[in-house]
Amino acid sequence: MSDVVLSDAVISQLKAIVGEDKVRLDAESLETFGKDWTKVHEPNPAAIVFPRSVEEVQAIVKLANEHEIALVPSGGRTGLSGGAMAANGELVVSFDYMNQISEFNAIDRTVKCGAGVITEQLQTYAEEQGLFYPVDFASSGSSQIGGNISTNAGGIKVIKYGMTRDWVAGLTVVTGAGEILELNHGLKKNNSGYDMRQLFIGGEGTLGFVVDATMNLTRAPHNLTVLVLGVPEFEAIMGVLNTFQSELDLTAFEFFSERALQKVVDHAGLQRPFETEAEYYALLEFENESEATEALAMELFEKCMEEGWVLDGTMSQSIEQQQNLWRLREDISETIAQWTPYKNDVSTVISKVPGFLNEVESVVVENYPDFEVVWYGHIGDGNLHLNILKPDAMAKEEFFERCGHVNKWLFEIVERYKGSVSAEHGVGLLKKAYLPYCKSEGEIALMRQIKQIFDPKGIMNPGKVLD
Ligand code: MLT
Ligand code: ZN
Repeated sequence: MSDVVLSDAVISQLKAIVGEDKVRLDAESLETFGKDWTKVHEPNPAAIVFPRSVEEVQAIVKLANEHEIALVPSGGRTGLSGGAMAANGELVVSFDYMNQISEFNAIDRTVKCGAGVITEQLQTYAEEQGLFYPVDFASSGSSQIGGNISTNAGGIKVIKYGMTRDWVAGLTVVTGAGEILELNHGLKKNNSGYDMRQLFIGGEGTLGFVVDATMNLTRAPHNLTVLVLGVPEFEAIMGVLNTFQSELDLTAFEFFSERALQKVVDHAGLQRPFETEAEYYALLEFENESEATEALAMELFEKCMEEGWVLDGTMSQSIEQQQNLWRLREDISETIAQWTPYKNDVSTVISKVPGFLNEVESVVVENYPDFEVVWYGHIGDGNLHLNILKPDAMAKEEFFERCGHVNKWLFEIVERYKGSVSAEHGVGLLKKAYLPYCKSEGEIALMRQIKQIFDPKGIMNPGKVLD
């Protein structure tokens, strides 16, 4: 498949670094490791290399500098912005073999993870220690910690626990110049100048590789309970959020539209939460610590019913019910993947979300009258996922082009609301052109200078985030 070849000499040098069997050139590997979950570009890497240590990663980066070979990091490849796409003959560096968990410390509540540790592996490990790793999302069974850090992954518990950034206590990185940096050493307090760890978190592999990380863990929550509420109009969701948030410490506050619910009911074999149909649904989660907490949740639910903000609702009474209710929200992304959706992942401050959504909705209704639109997202964080579904009969290229035309109006709204063109999926290839809608010229110029310092030859994930 790949028409881009690395010279025999370079391949031999790579094999000398990582071992004969850790360099792959076969068509299946190139196809698999050259892409993420986006379907916009075709994978076309030159080779895939699988290092097993920091030193091997460093040697690869040094070799790439010598020969000016573009490098693309590869984690679980679950990204939705093309950040891990290798479409131009790049050398893909996979962290699949750097998946060790070590150095657990119960007092510090930290653990060291290789970049290739799967998110769920860390969650399970934490649970085995009686602790909790709270960053969670539908792709946690395949996404890797290195990728989560490089994209500052968010997910479904951000309202209480924050983003991946909040859980990184230390990092080992190899910069684009081939230098190994150990950043922050797991410290809680460290005011000793610039915190370069933060540049690599969310840096999408454009400054260097995240090779391992010391992650924070926390107390495990007790008896998580989920409420799904049917809401007649979007503004009411804010009333519900405010009502519950002022009395309960929520661990999640998500929303989805009736169309999103229909898709998961029809295609993922799930049951509706209740018979009443509503325009939108809110999913709330809280720690149900006592009968008093449950009674309070019921009281708040009734208050929302009286206000007319909620039409119907259900509360989980078991772990199984809690998990089934979560699936109504978590299965949406995978379910709609079959329609090759055009995905937007935008945000604004929480209080402005209703006005923001109404304006975006007008643009969408006007410009996509013939397309199905599916809304869902992390409304408690001000993060909306707007998915436009491709009609079966329309070619992918034409569909993406038509969606692309509407972006100007959509992102002008984002700009006016001082929001973000990418709340949690990252910029990658797909949102790069829209960066000026949420960052000033001056800020983008500084980003370029920072890239130049860490990656002087421009070999690190070129074309992602910035041109
Ligand atoms: C989600 O919230 O389900 C994920 O961000 C994935 C998606 O937006 O499709
Ligand atoms: Zn999301």
